[in-house]
Amino acid sequence: MTTNNKTKGAVTVVGLGAMGTALANAFLNANYTTTVWNRSPEKVSDMVVSGAKGSTTITEAVLASPLIVVCVLNYEVVYRIFDELDWSVLADRIVVNLTNGTPKQAREMAIFIEGKGAKGYVDGGIMAVPSLIGQKEAFLLYSGSKIGFEAYQSVLSALGAVKFLGTDAGIAALHDLALLSGMYGMFGGFLQATALIDSAQVPITEFTTSLLIPWLQAMTTAMPEMAAQIEVGNYVSKEANLAMQVAGGSLVDFSIAQGVKPDLLVAVELLMKQRVADGHGGDDFASLFELIRKKAASKTEVIP
Ligand SMILES: NC(=O)c1ccc[n+]([C@@H]2O[C@H](COP(=O)([O-])OP(=O)(O)OC[C@H]3O[C@@H](n4cnc5c(N)ncnc54)[C@H](OP(=O)(O)O)[C@@H]3O)[C@@H](O)[C@H]2O)c1
Repeated sequence: MTTNNKTKGAVTVVGLGAMGTALANAFLNANYTTTVWNRSPEKVSDMVVSGAKGSTTITEAVLASPLIVVCVLNYEVVYRIFDELDWSVLADRIVVNLTNGTPKQAREMAIFIEGKGAKGYVDGGIMAVPSLIGQKEAFLLYSGSKIGFEAYQSVLSALGAVKFLGTDAGIAALHDLALLSGMYGMFGGFLQATALIDSAQVPITEFTTSLLIPWLQAMTTAMPEMAAQIEVGNYVSKEANLAMQVAGGSLVDFSIAQGVKPDLLVAVELLMKQRVADGHGGDDFASLFELIRKKAASKTEVIP
């Protein structure tokens, strides 16, 4: 438990779900006076046992600290909670909203919160699960009020490494959602691979640790080169062109033959075949970017 007269500063955490609780604990562990508010009061009581200060209203919670960190289910909930606030207490406060949302939601929230008198609004994306908060693997993305971020950067670093991406409140959310898209693509590949292995009753854990992880790690080393190809728009293949990859057989057909649902692979395979049919069989896999990028998506038919 922390003693308030020796703390480094004060922070309020709004929302004590799995993530909000982890955030509050990280602030406590870093010796910040931590005030908490949550819709369900029993979670506030639990945090008080851990050394936090409890508050029964959102106004009391905001009044307690110059830095307000919000982490609840979604933006609709953030608006609902702030609806109950006495706005006069928001003056001179920095609001850091770590609730997941879109860039548009973040920009609108910045206008709303700063319009209500806050000194600054910072939007953030948490690139970690709750158990990693405060650990070296965790990093968090921030954007919006530079003054607000810089004033509390050291406090926020108690949660994980900090990356400030600019004064556009929406840019952290864009990066967050892009990173999540990468993660879901990778996990989708993991599920497809393990379903294929499982279809032949091969143990999944051994396959995952001894083969799949080393394979995927090796493949990630190709990504900087792929990114460079995309940036210059030159995809001419030196060693593994699309025509060869498509001619090698259909992973979709193979999944079906194994009795495994192929849906996670269908979109990628259709794009590869389309690219070859369009006359780009000599290109690398990275050239599929041309079929999904924003300017192409607005001109071409979206593949169902
Ligand atoms: N968990 C993760 O791994 C993770 C990772 C990165 C980012 N995030 C993001 O962090 C945010 C919180 O996630 P979480 O895992 O903490 O979710 P969670 O465990 O489901 O907690 C949801 C929080 O929202 C509150 N809430 C829900 N509906 C409410 C309402 N109508 N009025 C007031 N409060 C309401 C809950 O209050 P009650 O306790 O009263 O229900 C609780 O504090 C989400 O935006 C999530 O996307 C989570």
